[in-house]
Formats: sequence, structure tokens, C-alpha cells
Amino acid sequence: MKIVNHQLNKLPGLAALPDEITAEGYDQPTDYTPNRDPDYIFRLDDVRVLLGHMTSDTSAGLLLWGHRGSGKSSLPNQLCAYLNRPLFSMHGHSSLEWEDFLGAKEIVDGDTITMDGPLVQAWQMPLATFLLEEADRIRTQVSVALNPLLDGYDIVHTLDSGRRIKRARDVRLVFTANTNGQGDMTGDYNSAVSMDTSLLDRVWAHKVPYPSPEEEFTILRKAVDSQIGDEQIRKSIAFANDVRYLHAGEDTEVSSSAQSLDVSGAIHTTISTRALCELWRVMSKFPYVDNPIIYALRLVVTNKCTPECADAIHKLAEAQFAGD
Ligand SMILES: Nc1ncnc2c1ncn2[C@@H]1O[C@H](COP(=O)(O)OP(=O)(O)OP(=O)(O)O)[C@@H](O)[C@H]1O
Ligand SMILES: [Mg+2]
Repeated sequence: MKIVNHQLNKLPGLAALPDEITAEGYDQPTDYTPNRDPDYIFRLDDVRVLLGHMTSDTSAGLLLWGHRGSGKSSLPNQLCAYLNRPLFSMHGHSSLEWEDFLGAKEIVDGDTITMDGPLVQAWQMPLATFLLEEADRIRTQVSVALNPLLDGYDIVHTLDSGRRIKRARDVRLVFTANTNGQGDMTGDYNSAVSMDTSLLDRVWAHKVPYPSPEEEFTILRKAVDSQIGDEQIRKSIAFANDVRYLHAGEDTEVSSSAQSLDVSGAIHTTISTRALCELWRVMSKFPYVDNPIIYALRLVVTNKCTPECADAIHKLAEAQFAGD
């Protein structure tokens, strides 16, 4: 397998980039390259940061943070998929131990052998990304063990007699989290912990926002059944943005149809790009029920809300889709 340069304007969503903008990857997928999502659309503001980090002369990590379903995990997965780069991921949780990063000892035919974990595997493979998902759910005593690696030191494989493992060329450490490391400031992510500032000092941080209406239209247009009209898709995006603005307390940004409803203060949830895609999938599955939009909204969003919040969200949807 050879390392080659890929033209970035071949990637979905990046056609406007000039031919000279390229990025290194392999000429074919490695055994550790994620699958491509045919519906995925790259967003320039996010790609710029991730690619800049991949190609910078730095040992620092990159923290991609933001609301659920905004596109944090799919970004590194899809960039690696399109560049045929290897990606090794782990998911953070409160019982994760440092040894889980390094590997495990197993008995095979009576012999004890060390199986390398995802971090050790990534560390030895040129151009690999180690993706640590939900990094703000890991106990800080564990996550700070990454500090020496973020400073550029070798892995010391304590499960394998302290073997030192050098970082292969351009291996990158990327984190995802719903918070920016300061703990849950919104009440939405109550299992998030405050990350240690010594770790935060060793990462770049980029907020992955929900897509702009135009970007989200491109995403949904590709993902949603072609029989659904553009206008319907645009209405669903306007509705999602009303919910997002009200949830964020940015009441002055909401559409005029939402302004008159006086539901400010009742919205305790947001609508992610994931939920919006799912909403359309469910609506396509149940087109013949009485009110397909509310039916799908209940399944995807509002059956998980307080009654007041559910009611407010239904009113916002009805206002956007009025007349359909
Ligand atoms: N740029 C995009 N193009 C196409 N689909 C997208 C895009 N961004 C998000 N989506 C849709 O939203 C879903 C969620 O994206 P992703 O898993 O990246 O979110 P996340 O930010 O990691 O969420 P969480 O915080 O819940 O882990 C994707 O599976 C996809 O359906
Ligand atoms: Mg994710």
C-alpha cells in the first residue's frame, strides 16, 4: 500500500476547492479504514481544522466538541474513509482504565501474550488517527495519562515489560465530547466531567456547530427520499432551527411563525442533525398516519421530553408546516 496525495475537491461538499489542495492518505483502504457513508457531506469550516491538525507539525491533540448529533464523530471517520487512512476509536466511560488503551494480556495455548489495544495499534501506523470518543465521560485520573503522548513522548507499554513505542509518522490523537472540558454547563450532558486543564492545555479545541441551513439542506437532500420536495425539507430545517434557538435562549433569532407562539422557556431539548435525518426516515416509513410530522416527532424527539416541552415543539412544527 502506498501513501499518495488525494485531491480534496473530489470529496462530497468540497467541489469548490482548487485542484492544488490535496491531503495525504493511502492509495486504497487499509484494514482499519472506516466505511464511507454515501450520504456524508463535508463542511469546509470543520475540514479546515481537522486537516490542519492532521498536517501540522504538532504532537497536540484536537478536541471536537459540540451538541449531540452535530457531526463530531462522523467528521474524522469520513475524512479517514475518503483518504483511506486508518482510524482506531475508543469510547469513553467512567469505568475505562488506562490499561484498556494499551491492550490486554491473554492466555493462548498456555502462553501469556500481550494483545495491543487501539492506542498502541494506532501509534505504530503512519497517518493513523486515534479517536477518543466521549472524552468528557472518562475519569480525569485516566485521561491525564495521555499527557506525555500529547507532549511527543513514546508510549511506555506497561502491559508489555515497559516496551517503548515511538509515534509513527503523522499519527494523530482526536477527541470528541459534548462539552468543551468545563463540565456540563447546560444540563444536557449530566454524565460529563470537568476535564483536567493540563490535558486541555495539550489540545486544540474546535466547536462543531449544527450545520447552517444551506449545509443542512445539502445533507438532508442527499439523505432524504427524492420524492420529498425541497420546500418540505427547508421547512423542517427552519423548524429545527427554531427549536435550537429557543433551547439556546436566542429567542430573537426564531422565525416569525415561532415568535407568535410564546413557547419560549418551554424548550428543554434541541434537535440534532441526526434527529432531523431520522425524522425524515420515520416520516417516509409512516406516510399514511393522521399527522405524519407529529407522529414522527413523537417517536424521534418528543416522547423523550417533558409534556410542556413536547407540546411546545409540536406547536413549532405545526406553525412551520401549516398549510401542508
Ligand atoms: N456532514 C454531514 N453529512 C451527512 N450527515 C451528517 C453530517 N453531520 C451529521 N450527519 C448526520 O448526523 C448523524 C450524527 O452525526 P455524528 O455521529 O457525527 O454526531 P456527533 O456530533 O458525534 O453526536 P454525539 O454527540 O451524539 O456523539 C450522522 O450519523 C448523520 O446521519
Ligand atoms: Mg459522536
